[in-house]
Amino acid sequence: MLVDSVDFFRLDANRKLDNGRRSDLGQFMTPPATARLMASMFEAKHMELTLLDAGAGVGSLTAAFVSEVTNRKNKPKSIRSTAYEIDSELCGYLVSTLKQCKQTCESSGVAFDCEVVQGDFMEEAAGLLCNEMFSPVRRYNCAIMNPPYRKINSDSPERLALRAIGVETSNLYTGFLSIVLRLLELKGELVAITPRSFCNGLYFKPFRKILLETLALRRIHVFDSRQVAFKEDEVLQENVIFHGVKGAKKSERVTVSSSTGPEDDFVTVREVPHDKIVRPGDPEHYIHIVPDELGASVAQQMSELHTTLAELDIEVSTGKVVDFRATEFLRDHPTAKTVPLIYPRNFENGYIKWPKPGNKPQALAVLPGADELLVPKGTYVLVKRFSSKEEKRRVVAAVYDRKRISAEQVGFENHTNFFHRNDKGLSVGLAKGVAAFLNSTLVDLYFRQFSGHTQVNATDLRNFRYPGTELAGRGRSEQSCAGEEED
Ligand SMILES: C[S@@+](CC[C@H](N)C(=O)[O-])C[C@H]1O[C@@H](n2cnc3c(N)ncnc32)[C@H](O)[C@@H]1O
Repeated sequence: MLVDSVDFFRLDANRKLDNGRRSDLGQFMTPPATARLMASMFEAKHMELTLLDAGAGVGSLTAAFVSEVTNRKNKPKSIRSTAYEIDSELCGYLVSTLKQCKQTCESSGVAFDCEVVQGDFMEEAAGLLCNEMFSPVRRYNCAIMNPPYRKINSDSPERLALRAIGVETSNLYTGFLSIVLRLLELKGELVAITPRSFCNGLYFKPFRKILLETLALRRIHVFDSRQVAFKEDEVLQENVIFHGVKGAKKSERVTVSSSTGPEDDFVTVREVPHDKIVRPGDPEHYIHIVPDELGASVAQQMSELHTTLAELDIEVSTGKVVDFRATEFLRDHPTAKTVPLIYPRNFENGYIKWPKPGNKPQALAVLPGADELLVPKGTYVLVKRFSSKEEKRRVVAAVYDRKRISAEQVGFENHTNFFHRNDKGLSVGLAKGVAAFLNSTLVDLYFRQFSGHTQVNATDLRNFRYPGTELAGRGRSEQSCAGEEED
């Protein structure tokens, strides 16, 4: 509610802003989905949160932050927010936004206090830092920002202000970031959306050095498409959001994600060793964010697999039980005259767990007409047709193991796909191999490259190439003894 309501201010301001001033001051404001994504990256564990929003515009980022933390189970006791904005017109909206933030906080039992500093953040903050010896400077445990970007000449007032605190950088946004890094407390968190340009390039080398010495990167998100993050503003920048913690130990891995835009559900996420992002000993301190390279390597690895399902003598079909058409057979609990009915909710840690009482019937009565919905006792691989949003993977596989579930037949519900051999089970070894392959990150990433949605169709699974002859050979030889209790 808060974020959407504040978005009216952004849209209204966008209509009224003068174009020249807009590009001078870098007034390209953050749309709600991006603001929410940014706010969601904070751990924000302190009970007393102190938030800095430098170049706050109408306050969209502060609003997203307030909305995020007041909606969490563990809410803070208080939020003290400081917003800097140079444009007096935007400050009017900003004050209204902060009033709404206060109301949201009050209704969640969180104390809220705020300050709008109308003026030049560079000048004000650099001035404070210069005088730190004489007057202590307020520090923040959280900073969220979408700083303005524009080149700053070496004799500009901004450059002089930065130079006074020992920062040499050629763009407004890296200037803002350098100051904000100073204003963070130790272990303070920063989430910023910026152009991707600082990650390489000679001009940004001193900034990269400061950034990487100060901040332990935790998450980087890139928008694959240059235009989506700020689509109303026609900003042709490749944008990146990053989250880091000041003075924290560099975690071994950094979460790198990418999407075409903030509203895209199709997000690739991977944990990347820190030293793959910033190579140790690299004098340039380049920051490598390589979802595309990853994509390429995924595609390359998949292209090395050649075996088709047909060569493995396996088929994949959609579960035969459409529950609303089979109501007369459905039973909540198993009895002597029923067989297992398997839904996606029966997937657990790579296996089918049955029965699993809950909101879905767990059994099918063996009545006339049920036979065509069933397959015989055996070991099958099941794949969910729809993964939930919370699920990390798109392709989720599990083994229905005849040794774990004792039943002469089984019904697979229509929200699952199942791998079989001529409507019968597979050998245990082959089933485990296929499931392990399908549950691999390689398959998941590969799937995301060509599928923009969360549905996994039998056709998709049929079109994959699978690991080769060893698995096929093993599968065939085991098939010959599939009746035995091999493992
Ligand atoms: C890229 S916009 C982002 C606005 C807002 N944070 C958001 O995400 O929607 C940058 C903002 O910084 C403001 N700004 C530009 N130069 C500034 C300065 N020197 N001091 C303070 N604010 C400044 C602009 O007026 C603009 O509102």
